[in-house]
Amino acid sequence: MRIHVVDHPLVAHKLTTLRDQRTDSPTFRRLADELVTLLAYEATRDVRTEQVDIDTPVSRTTGVKLSYPRPLVVPILRAGLGMLDGMVRLLPTAEVGFLGMVRNEETLQPATYATRMPDDLSGRQVYVLDPMLATGGTLVAAIQELIKRGADDVTAVVLLAAPEGVEIMERELAGTPVTVVTASVDERLNEHGYIVPGLGDAGDRMYGVA
Ligand code: URA
Repeated sequence: MRIHVVDHPLVAHKLTTLRDQRTDSPTFRRLADELVTLLAYEATRDVRTEQVDIDTPVSRTTGVKLSYPRPLVVPILRAGLGMLDGMVRLLPTAEVGFLGMVRNEETLQPATYATRMPDDLSGRQVYVLDPMLATGGTLVAAIQELIKRGADDVTAVVLLAAPEGVEIMERELAGTPVTVVTASVDERLNEHGYIVPGLGDAGDRMYGVA
């Protein structure tokens, strides 16, 4: 597993406003969408393309297009949904699957309550969306499911990560073709499993309900 922290002033600016507890839900959703688009730009650096011949109004030339099989984008419900538009805006050919996972707030263990994606992901590039890499349990379980289905290249796009979550991913997904792209690796997790300083509960802040 490899981690890529995107170091860019626009990313830092948007992340700071997302962290601010005074930022309301509509602004939070818009900024999360914009931030995902910037992270998606980095996350898709190795997206597969093929060479094509086209005619410009002036001459014939060769260019590139996103190739097949189509990339698969998998938001983890609920909060990953708020990242979907920003991702598919940059990947217009992508197919979208869904994984519904909740974290038990006492045991902090993930449980899957909904799955909708192709059974066979052989040869597919997959982009998993989850705003917060906290304990890492949810993302590890999601990525193991994708690899079990044959995905051979998985990129997790997360807004924020905790060092504890990164360490668990590195341990549990050692030797797998997985990349994590994030805007920041924060200080730590607190005793409730929240990232510090973090931004609070990403789902609640996006959707305005607990
Ligand atoms: N999930 C969140 O929404 N926020 C955190 O800080 C950790 C997990």
